[in-house]
Amino acid sequence: MINLKTRYLGLELKNPLVASASTLSKKTSYVKRMEDAGISAVVMYSLFEEQISHDSLAFNYFMERGTERYAESLDYFPDLEQYNVSPDQYLEKIRRNKETVDIPIIGSLNGVSNTGWSEYAQKIEQAGADGLELNTYFIPTNPEITTDQLEDNYAELVKTVCDNVNIPVAVKLSPFFTALPNLILRLEEAGAEGLVLFNRFIQPDLDIENLEINTTLQLSTSAELLLPLRWMALLYGRVEADLALTTGIHTGVDLLKAVMAGATIGMVASEFIAKGVERAQEMLAEMEKWMTVYEYDSIEKMRGSMSQKRAGNPAAFERANYMKTLQSYDNRLL
Ligand SMILES: Cc1cc2nc3c(=O)[nH]c(=O)nc-3n(C[C@H](O)[C@H](O)[C@H](O)COP(=O)(O)O)c2cc1C
Repeated sequence: MINLKTRYLGLELKNPLVASASTLSKKTSYVKRMEDAGISAVVMYSLFEEQISHDSLAFNYFMERGTERYAESLDYFPDLEQYNVSPDQYLEKIRRNKETVDIPIIGSLNGVSNTGWSEYAQKIEQAGADGLELNTYFIPTNPEITTDQLEDNYAELVKTVCDNVNIPVAVKLSPFFTALPNLILRLEEAGAEGLVLFNRFIQPDLDIENLEINTTLQLSTSAELLLPLRWMALLYGRVEADLALTTGIHTGVDLLKAVMAGATIGMVASEFIAKGVERAQEMLAEMEKWMTVYEYDSIEKMRGSMSQKRAGNPAAFERANYMKTLQSYDNRLL
């Protein structure tokens, strides 16, 4: 009998396959289908700071400081009246999802400043969410903003939210931090019980014939799993918080890799968007089959078994392996 159970943010989950924040959670019928397909919890799409406080002072600070670009930047935002839903509708969606399914529903807030968040974090809690994910999607283009300022802001934001809610809080981070383990330590001290690694930025492409910037969102591939996988392996056993891996999980084997690197859960968006949420059933079956063949009986026992702390070759995750890997290409030269 294979045991896929895991515990994330204090929530008992029947398996480590969680739906990452995405468009899919905008429809309750999809959330129900996710539950039916075996997904163990759903992270809701994000409520964006821009939806809460279009012109909050703190938000302006980050957008505008040292530049004349704030007014211009407002044009880039979608018409907030039309952009998916208002904050109230978002809360209503959480309520409806909670009424419809038994699996945990995790709310999601996306922003950069620390004003106005606590109120909405509390409202998300009151709407029945079992947890809250904070997504700090921010591209620090302003050269006047220092690393310290930015990281202080993250820690402050997380502390403010954690101090004001009783549900567990996870923080979704980008991989672009100079000293990621230190930042994670600070976020844990601020109250974060989970870290979601990593946020996947939309990467604009250039259409050089029409001289336009193409911001179409490309779905991920399994190749993108390698970046969060490495950090999972490096962080496992070094941090207290639960680690969730997002980006690049497309198969049951990808999910097993995430767990063996050290993830408590794996989150999936692209695969479900591309192939339908019923794909979860196949992924779970693939996991169980693999575990049966290789005689593993529990996900808990597999966790972190290939982390840096436990792997036979810990240097493989660090600089030491770099030259050796490059050298392996020397033999391929004609
Ligand atoms: C269409 C779409 C919508 C998304 N919306 C959100 C969102 O509202 N909030 C968020 O934190 N992440 C959002 N994401 C990011 C996903 O949660 C996930 O972190 C990312 O896509 C990487 O996982 P994947 O490789 O399984 O796609 C979205 C992704 C997609 C593809």
